[in-house]
Amino acid sequence: MLPARKGGFKGPLAEPRNVFRNMTGGLDAGFLLALLCLIRGSEHACPSVCLCVSDTVSCSSGGLGRLPRSLPAFSATLDVSHNHLSWLGPGIFNKMPFLENLKVSHNQLRSLGHGVFLNASSLRLLDLSSNKLQVVEPHYFQGLWRLQELLLFNNRITQVEAGTLIGLSSLKKAYFSLNQITQFPFFSIRDHSHPFLTMLDLSSNRLTRLPWEDVKALPGLVQRGLYLHNNSLICDCSMYSVFWHWSLRAYNSLKDFTDDHTCSISGDQRSSVRFLRQNRFFLNCTVETAVSQPVTVFLSSVSVSAGDKVSLDCQTPLRGAELSFTWLSPSKGYITQTGTNDTLISLLADGTLEIQAAKVNDSGLYVCTALDVKQSLNATREVNVTVLLPALEPFNTGYTTLLGCLVSMIAILMYLYLTPCRCRCCKQPKPPIVPAVTYDPGTLTTVISPYCRNQHKIQTNKHVAFMQPAISEEEADQLPES
Ligand SMILES: *[C@@H]1O[C@H](CO)[C@@H](O)[C@H](O)[C@H]1NC(C)=O
Ligand SMILES: *[C@@H]1O[C@H](CO)[C@@H](O)[C@H](O)[C@H]1NC(C)=O
Ligand SMILES: *[C@@H]1O[C@H](CO)[C@@H](O)[C@H](O)[C@H]1NC(C)=O
Ligand SMILES: *[C@@H]1O[C@H](CO)[C@@H](O)[C@H](O)[C@H]1NC(C)=O
Ligand SMILES: *[C@@H]1O[C@H](CO)[C@@H](O)[C@H](O)[C@H]1NC(C)=O
Ligand SMILES: *[C@@H]1O[C@H](CO)[C@@H](O)[C@H](O)[C@H]1NC(C)=O
Ligand SMILES: *[C@@H]1O[C@H](CO)[C@@H](O)[C@H](O)[C@H]1NC(C)=O
Repeated sequence: MLPARKGGFKGPLAEPRNVFRNMTGGLDAGFLLALLCLIRGSEHACPSVCLCVSDTVSCSSGGLGRLPRSLPAFSATLDVSHNHLSWLGPGIFNKMPFLENLKVSHNQLRSLGHGVFLNASSLRLLDLSSNKLQVVEPHYFQGLWRLQELLLFNNRITQVEAGTLIGLSSLKKAYFSLNQITQFPFFSIRDHSHPFLTMLDLSSNRLTRLPWEDVKALPGLVQRGLYLHNNSLICDCSMYSVFWHWSLRAYNSLKDFTDDHTCSISGDQRSSVRFLRQNRFFLNCTVETAVSQPVTVFLSSVSVSAGDKVSLDCQTPLRGAELSFTWLSPSKGYITQTGTNDTLISLLADGTLEIQAAKVNDSGLYVCTALDVKQSLNATREVNVTVLLPALEPFNTGYTTLLGCLVSMIAILMYLYLTPCRCRCCKQPKPPIVPAVTYDPGTLTTVISPYCRNQHKIQTNKHVAFMQPAISEEEADQLPES
């Protein structure tokens, strides 16, 4: 059976055969409707092997060798799954102009005739999964400009021909998993041709060397929903570069199937590498930064109070004695080891940047570049620093806070003046000192970046983890920004 795992084929799998049960469950209401239908569609009577209720016709598990000659013309859903259909001929759905859902899964289809769906342009869901289709030809889906979901998993498809997906301009999800596909026309999927496509499942096929330039040119939404695990990929740098960028962006396809992403060294299937776990093999690869979107290498964020000392390390995957470090800071520009003459900010030999007393307008994105001159490799590390005003400022956060503050101040005053006090302990408490938070090294292991440029242009929407429990996120948002 199909592996029912998250990510791969969500949704449609669970649903198909339940339609029937639901219908028989609500039979009393359905019975009337069925009667109505029988009267309305008297010239297209319900075939005896099928059950027709409202606009739904189910001929599932009816032992059909071919489609019944006449089906109710007004149906919106036709379920002929679990039969023995081996062929769908031209024009068979011509007389069903309202057909929206067609389920032909678990049959014996080997191919489809020309123009099968030409006059079925209302179709939104087409389920051809678990058949014996071999080559997906360009004419198969002609006319289906409203189609949103195309299910073709678990067939024997070896090739999806160029032009197959052209015209499917409403497509949202396409499932090609569990086939033997070696070629797929990635180049035919573009923003303008498929603006709604968010799921392209090509997992568990036989893809070896993909046209990576075409893959990189896929619309961002498609890249985010592209599943390529459990194929026969051959390890090389261009492959690794693409997955490297996807894993930086933490796409679900990579997170959910980390161990199923394998590649084989020089095509030898016995030497398979789980390349999201084990990247030793790719250390000499050049990882380009531009994959159609800005890259986010966002390793940590730090939140400190004004006046505190901040120390930002520059730990990158690069190892070795001859590393040189450069920091780009929002307020001071480039900071290098030789060029600093600033007592307030200093760059240590191990790449750590120290700010003696942080000011609010020192906040922002700090980018460190470690450069290994010998191997001409460089790696970057980014830290989003937020310098907060010292505590005692929450006067601008609304009446409730203000009121609470006044009440506690009165309480303090009462405590100070109404109780006998002889000690220095009555001084107002200082705001708690927030320790500078350094990055979590665990996040680094997934990010191997032998070569990254221009990463300081990066935008991100990651939240800062506020370490100060006294300040809620809402309040923190209202803090003045530099
Ligand atoms: C199919 O569609 C074409 C053009 O849209 C139309 O001319 C033709 O009559 C239709 N055929 C049937 C059987 O509905
Ligand atoms: C990987 O793909 C093969 C067929 O190519 C399939 O039999 C197997 O179940 C798949 N494994 C996983 C973990 O999806
Ligand atoms: C990377 O390059 C170095 C020096 O060029 C070489 O010694 C090493 O074997 C290479 N590593 C891999 C995994 O190819
Ligand atoms: C660096 O600081 C020293 C004194 O601390 C000063 O004499 C020197 O001129 C400064 N150099 C630059 C380039 O500012
Ligand atoms: C930072 O704040 C100080 C005043 O506190 C101001 O003089 C300075 O111009 C600010 N710097 C930047 C880069 O905004
Ligand atoms: C990264 O390394 C390359 C090659 O050594 C160099 O040309 C480039 O300037 C470096 N990038 C940065 C930001 O230092
Ligand atoms: C850094 O964190 C602050 C506070 O959450 C956020 O407003 C800002 O956009 C972040 N900076 C970057 C470059 O992401």
